Amino acid sequence: MAGQASQEIAAPLSEADIRSAIVTRRIGHTIHLLQTVDSTNDEAMALAARGALDGTVVIADAQRRGRGRMGRSWASPGGVGIYLSVILRPAIQPHDAPSLTLLGAVAVAEAIEEVAGLAAGVKWPNDLIVRGRKVGGILGEVAAEASHLHYVVLGIGVNVNQTEASFEGELRHTATSLRIETGRLVDRTAMIRSLCERLDRWYNCFLSEGPAPIIERLRQRCLTLGQRVVARSGDQQLCGLAVDLDHAGALLIRDADQQLHRLIAGDVTLTG
Ligand code: BTN
Repeated sequence: MAGQASQEIAAPLSEADIRSAIVTRRIGHTIHLLQTVDSTNDEAMALAARGALDGTVVIADAQRRGRGRMGRSWASPGGVGIYLSVILRPAIQPHDAPSLTLLGAVAVAEAIEEVAGLAAGVKWPNDLIVRGRKVGGILGEVAAEASHLHYVVLGIGVNVNQTEASFEGELRHTATSLRIETGRLVDRTAMIRSLCERLDRWYNCFLSEGPAPIIERLRQRCLTLGQRVVARSGDQQLCGLAVDLDHAGALLIRDADQQLHRLIAGDVTLTG
């Protein structure tokens, strides 16, 4: 099947196709489809600073300097992946913004399931995992001062039609794509449509009910819960058992002394 897929050519993204496919209340009323940018998050942050509205979406065919969490880079070759950033302007406190990353993770997992038919889990807080390998990630960035949140940009990367040869070095063992896992090309437009619809649904839910329904949904998909983890945040390191998510989506870790720690952000490695 994978051999058959390698003979096929992925369709380019078309603005008209994407626009006509998306039927949403808030997300995607304005879509900027760009060819190659440094980072869709940079584009979206700049648009937001100039007043772009809640729900504005930026999509690029390729990124020169795609960015991941913790200062990592995000490989963004042209024609094969989804590189999408959405501007959100919820009336919330800056300290409540991390739950929007979780909203993004739930939306991406559901879109993967709908379009590719693959079970997708979430490694807290932002890694999308299919059969043990990373297929996507979310980079949330905020503009805020003191207790006022100006806007959030949720940057979403999904490996869609990459082949094994696309991944270099360490990524060969840790990354995958929807094409590798299904053995067929996956329609990027269908993924973008589904993703925008899921983001729209969960964002509307977040605005009316807060983060609780999203966190409940994430609990069902969270691969981190019940696992022993090493969590790193700045120069702090914590080992323990990931026991639950709290009301705001923070990860609760019980250490060897039975102390419960609350992790709002950070890098988590599963150790079994
Ligand atoms: C991660 O897993 O570390 C997050 C990866 C986020 C990648 C996306 S691709 C679209 C947007 N633009 C970027 O530069 N990064 C995010």
